Amino acid sequence: MGLSSFSLVLLVLGVVIFKGTSQQVRPNYADALSKSILFFEGQRSGVLPSSQRMTWRKDSALYDGHDVGVDLTGGYYDAGDNVKFNFPMAFTTTVLAWSAVEFASSMDPVELGHTIEAVRWATDYFLKATSIQNKVFVQVGDPYSDHACWQRPEDMDTKRTAYAVTSTNPGSETNTVDPTVRVFRFALFIVILAVIRYDCIQDELLWAAAWLFKASNQQKYWDYVANNFNSLTEVREFGWDDKHGGIYVFMANELLSKGNNDNVYLQHADRFVCSIVPESPTKGVTYSPGGLIVKPVGSNMQNPTAISFLLLVYSRYLSRANKVVQCGDKIANPQRLQEIAKGQVDYILGNNPMKMSYMVGYGSRFPEKIHHRGSSLPSVVVHPTHYRCQDGHLFFLSKYPNPNELTGAVVGGPLPNDTYIDSREDFRQSEPTTYINAPLVGLLAYFSNPQI
Ligand SMILES: *[C@@H]1O[C@H](CO)[C@@H](O)[C@H](O)[C@H]1NC(C)=O
Repeated sequence: MGLSSFSLVLLVLGVVIFKGTSQQVRPNYADALSKSILFFEGQRSGVLPSSQRMTWRKDSALYDGHDVGVDLTGGYYDAGDNVKFNFPMAFTTTVLAWSAVEFASSMDPVELGHTIEAVRWATDYFLKATSIQNKVFVQVGDPYSDHACWQRPEDMDTKRTAYAVTSTNPGSETNTVDPTVRVFRFALFIVILAVIRYDCIQDELLWAAAWLFKASNQQKYWDYVANNFNSLTEVREFGWDDKHGGIYVFMANELLSKGNNDNVYLQHADRFVCSIVPESPTKGVTYSPGGLIVKPVGSNMQNPTAISFLLLVYSRYLSRANKVVQCGDKIANPQRLQEIAKGQVDYILGNNPMKMSYMVGYGSRFPEKIHHRGSSLPSVVVHPTHYRCQDGHLFFLSKYPNPNELTGAVVGGPLPNDTYIDSREDFRQSEPTTYINAPLVGLLAYFSNPQI
């Protein structure tokens, strides 16, 4: 073997090794950010504005609330169906707003504008849902009749029942629409929604009070959290049905930013973090072999996005306060928390065993047969004729990709062994939800343009 062919072999080996290590393409976080926000336009209910960018969607559910004499048009369809579930919608809205508050400096003005518009689309609807004193509308649409049909939102002829709860404890609200009153209505709203589910509501009460404090800076809301925190059971979860982790991190951040580095909230936030960090002796979550956080719930992807969001926002306050988290004999510094959060985001964007993106329209391979009525049926733009309840099943069972791209939608995701079957029938894997995307907006904003 001459010198030159030896060099050639080295070169080839080098290329092979280089290729082997360069499979991790740096994700285009800015592109993913734009798409993650655009997704919310595809979920819009009501009269769409002229600025609507996802143009295969049109006006829908224009008589919501008609039967009860209240305008309940607007808001978001929760997932791949056409029901408006206000409880998860409230979580989605709060976390979208938190993303905007926390990461505004990382977003360019256009994307920040789109994010605020996405928040407003929900809050305008919540104002309608709370416009009658002591009455709160909690849901529009009948899940049983809706789920029995495979219909575009624009065609819906299923029951649009408006579900309401009435307060037995009339508040002292006036009709003045000052911002605090509006916020108070949301708080009340969140609490009543929790009650109707016969759920433990203490975390929602504290969560609402924490945000009321942030919005109004009134001491009474802070005191409410402080005085009731002890009655809260320690639960290391965060999601639309559980606000514990969010309360710990929110309160810890407020105090860290005021120079208070040792308090009960911080201890809880640290224990929450230690339940996530893979090397922590008190780790409580499971990671798939490919590195994704997995919990046994319907749609898994909500866990990695919500948990990573908290890790990221907490890491920034820890970093400013020069603090680390001590998990037994292991130290998790702010950089480590960001690395974990980034690992989850990168997994979603394609750094995973399937080598595919779980965000529709991002990357070269992504889910094409998502469990989503509007996306899977021909758009009213190309097929204006009405599809009846059962007409859609042909499209549900189709082996072809969905005709309309619900750009930015992140699906429920792979099985615990990192495999993914792109099938509409498997809704746990292939259905997108608004509460998967909301925390991702903040994460993508930060990783696209990290600002201290
Ligand atoms: C992944 O898990 C599913 C469900 O348990 C199973 O059917 C499938 O065979 C597994 N695939 C691999 C590659 O292990």
